[in-house]
Amino acid sequence: MNRKKISLSDITAFKTEHVPRPHVNALVRPHCDYSAAERRAAAELGGWNVFKFPSKMLLVDLLTDSGTMTLTHDQISEMMKGAGGGNYAISEGYELLKEQIERTFGFDPKESELYLFPQGRVAEHALCSCLKGEHMVVLANTFFDTTRANFEWQGIVAEDMTVLRGGKADARFLGNMNLEKLERCLTKYKGRVPIVYSTITNNTCAGQPVSMANLRATRDLCRAHGVSFFLDACRFPQNAYFVKTRERGYADRSIDDIVRETMSYADGITISFKKDVAPIGGALIVRKGAPLVTRQPGILRFLRSHQRIAASNETQGAMTEMDKMTIAEGLRIVTNEAYLRGRIGQVAEFGTYLANLGLPVVYPFGGHAVYLDTDKFFKGTDMRREDFGGIALTSLLLLKGVRLCELGSFAFGKYDAATGQETFPPHNFVRAAIPANRNELQDFMYVGDCLKKLHDRRDEIPCAVPVFGRDEPLRHFEARFKLVNR
Ligand code: F0G
Repeated sequence: MNRKKISLSDITAFKTEHVPRPHVNALVRPHCDYSAAERRAAAELGGWNVFKFPSKMLLVDLLTDSGTMTLTHDQISEMMKGAGGGNYAISEGYELLKEQIERTFGFDPKESELYLFPQGRVAEHALCSCLKGEHMVVLANTFFDTTRANFEWQGIVAEDMTVLRGGKADARFLGNMNLEKLERCLTKYKGRVPIVYSTITNNTCAGQPVSMANLRATRDLCRAHGVSFFLDACRFPQNAYFVKTRERGYADRSIDDIVRETMSYADGITISFKKDVAPIGGALIVRKGAPLVTRQPGILRFLRSHQRIAASNETQGAMTEMDKMTIAEGLRIVTNEAYLRGRIGQVAEFGTYLANLGLPVVYPFGGHAVYLDTDKFFKGTDMRREDFGGIALTSLLLLKGVRLCELGSFAFGKYDAATGQETFPPHNFVRAAIPANRNELQDFMYVGDCLKKLHDRRDEIPCAVPVFGRDEPLRHFEARFKLVNR
């Protein structure tokens, strides 16, 4: 099908049925009065990159669930206890946070080391940069982009062991590790694999959960090969909720109990507290008995030195006292079952709403976001993977004051400057991430209206041509595009 030549202002000139309640971050803004022309000028200035678009111009921001939550009253009250500044060493906030981390995750403090950092990728960076070995390969159910980038930054090869849709895959746990592939790779890369990772929930795979049986089996395989098993535990509460509601034998167990069982299989974790817990924070926890420590004696002290050099002393982790108080309270409440039922229920309600509009959402819904299948969205048009339709779609949405995020051909693709070739990931999604405790139904209905109108005219959506940053690491944060008719 040939696309008509269209103008961007024409394709986004539609009226919507629903009107969102304007708000930016936790601040409710009674008016957000920007014209399409003003939004367009701002979007063009930022090269149509959603990360370069001013938040104040947005009506609904579903870019990420990371650091965008609304704090609870109790959190604000705890946070204010730290407003005096805290102490340089062993502050009260540090003690509270450490105790809460022990309670939530169940790692024995005598048997493990806790390293605090200001966010997840800083914890990942510490771990990756302290690994020593030749021709190392790391394996995961699917690496999140920052985790992959951190390993690759150190010259370590990162391979995904995704469970493919259909076939033998368990539709309730599409985030699972592909155990057959993992076993093959552990044998193939013998002696070269310091760590195997499971990301829970599996953000890159549409936020799908990982079953407890899969975690246990992964741990067993790792143990048999003398390899450490780590969790990227960012969305551990949602994963536990899915285990409770979908996996046989867990219906009567508490979320806290399920979280502790989950952690019991891990030799360590990296975590960002920015998902549902608090606006900032991250950690790395390593068991002293992890195969990694046997493989590389001294790594725990090396990590502590790294932390001291990069993120201040053991008790600070480059966070303020207020941050530590807020995270401690966030961890205390985030495993509340009623909270999780509402949180995950809201995602499913939004997803169902989009599906009823005829939009190609990914089933089953994950715990923090609704994912649109970009290839299906553009089915029947001449949009190709290399035209980055997901980028074009998110660009046009900016003109309506809506921000979603492409997580597909561009974000997870790779450009080889020498050959001019792009390599594409298996999944090609646009993600609508839902911040915790923030949005209301009318916001989602507005987003639904906008997506539906653009879907109706999908054959007219232009291509996104990268004009800068195509070969940068984590390129989606930095790249600039031109939107062109084909
Ligand atoms: N791991 C996963 C699974 C993540 O989703 C993220 C962040 C990180 C690690 C890194 O944590 O941002 O604190 O450095 N995900 C955000 C997102 C950015 O939008 O999905 P961070």
